Amino acid sequence: MNQTEAAWAALNRAATAAAGRRIDGLFAAEPGRLARLTLDAAGLEIDLSKQPWSLADLSVMLDLARASGVETARDRLFAGEIVNATEGRPALHMALRAPDGADFRAGGRPVSGEVEASRAAMKAFADAVRSGAKAGCTGKPFRAIVHIGIGGSDLGPRLVWEALKPLDPPIDLRFAANVDPAELAQALTGLDPAETMVVTVSKTFTTLETLTNAETARAWLRASLGTASDSHLVAVSAAPDKAQAFGVPADQVFGFWDWVGGRYSIWSAVGLSCAVALGWDVFARFQAGAWAMDEHFRAAPLDRNAPVLLALAHVFNRNGLSRPIRAVVPYAQRLRLFAAFLQQLEMESNGKRVTAAGQPVPHATAASVFGDAGTNGQHAFFQLLHQGTDIVPVDILAVREGSEGDPAAQAKLLANAVAQAEALMVGRPPAETPDPQRAFPGDRPSSFVLLDRLDPERLGALIALYEHKVFVEGVLWGINSFDQWGVELGKTLAARVLGELEGGPPGAHDPSTAALIARLRSQR
Ligand code: F6P
Repeated sequence: MNQTEAAWAALNRAATAAAGRRIDGLFAAEPGRLARLTLDAAGLEIDLSKQPWSLADLSVMLDLARASGVETARDRLFAGEIVNATEGRPALHMALRAPDGADFRAGGRPVSGEVEASRAAMKAFADAVRSGAKAGCTGKPFRAIVHIGIGGSDLGPRLVWEALKPLDPPIDLRFAANVDPAELAQALTGLDPAETMVVTVSKTFTTLETLTNAETARAWLRASLGTASDSHLVAVSAAPDKAQAFGVPADQVFGFWDWVGGRYSIWSAVGLSCAVALGWDVFARFQAGAWAMDEHFRAAPLDRNAPVLLALAHVFNRNGLSRPIRAVVPYAQRLRLFAAFLQQLEMESNGKRVTAAGQPVPHATAASVFGDAGTNGQHAFFQLLHQGTDIVPVDILAVREGSEGDPAAQAKLLANAVAQAEALMVGRPPAETPDPQRAFPGDRPSSFVLLDRLDPERLGALIALYEHKVFVEGVLWGINSFDQWGVELGKTLAARVLGELEGGPPGAHDPSTAALIARLRSQR
């Protein structure tokens, strides 16, 4: 048995013992527990003491991290080495948010200068649009942006906008991701084409949904303003030639690099719509917050390292205690899209069944993650969290100071966040109620992440915290967190099925699929 196998065996032994005791009992048994399992990182206060591990288990998990080479892997990540082997690329999103003067290298090639130039171009564009110096083809200033993109080209920008947008924004930012035409139709409704910019974001500039929506939006502009309205088109892509071929003016195509993964790309020009609609200063602060988390991740010892500890808590639940589902509940309406963002970040990154070397992974990998804003989720899925037959670990996020509205309501929101974490862990013992329907077993784990305010810096730090958590988990599981081959098959088959729905010759399919296609064809 090598060192890593021994560490996994130790994890399994620790988890077996954990399954036989209660979390809340650990506080009395371990006087230093709270201090050891709470930490501050880049403006976030994190409490992992309601997780099922004992302090001895934490040591076991830290041994696993060391045996798995987390520190070396982290150094390779920051050094811009090819950590995404199947695509032959580094994953260097940290370079995008480093302050000017940094010296990041992607596969040995210096990139920080290009990053600074890209940021300068984004800032100049954002400033020009916001001041009105850059106006539409009729001379009217832009008052709306329709951001078209999907997956990583959508979820981050949407989250950032919802989290930080002013109550009455001078520029209205709307999104369309789905190829379902209903979404773009809704996004365009009520907008004046003369005042609307269309920002198409696609790393590859080949994505069916995005190109379909971009064509429809371009036609919508041209229908009112003619081809002069092509000056309202902006694109963000790692394939700028394709964006220009689509008809986007060359000086309005913002590039980024193949070493920026889609789900890690909000820090690049993919965030342009947000930078314009929120202002460059806000976007720069958002990047700075993420960089603060990068510095923490790179420098903090493993046992005080927030992304590492979050990842270890997850692996203790996922692998040690065989928990295949987890939930994330932000007690902040402005963070309600965080679960959707995490679904791509965690499940596209770590939903893998072979190792980076192509062998079957000997461990379970990413849990399914779901969630919604608290308190709304309490009135939907919390029943299962408290009394269901599966134990679902929960990440609870909360913000001390509300961004707007009634402070009394904010206090009620926070009270619910705290109370739910307590109820999950402590429960209500049968002794307190003779009715089994009303008994709460408790002993259900949660992590608590507290932000003083939902400001750009803390939002950046929060997203970077989870990015690095996902990376650490991938290292422990020995998988490549930066590719996504699992999305390819469905795309290929959809292209084939579309040909058949459009009247092409029927292809070879299983009977169920063939019947579905026949039914849809007969309704045309
Ligand atoms: O769903 C697969 C995927 O490749 C994601 O990884 C990516 O974020 C999304 O599609 C959009 O891709 P693109 O930015 O190239 O349009």
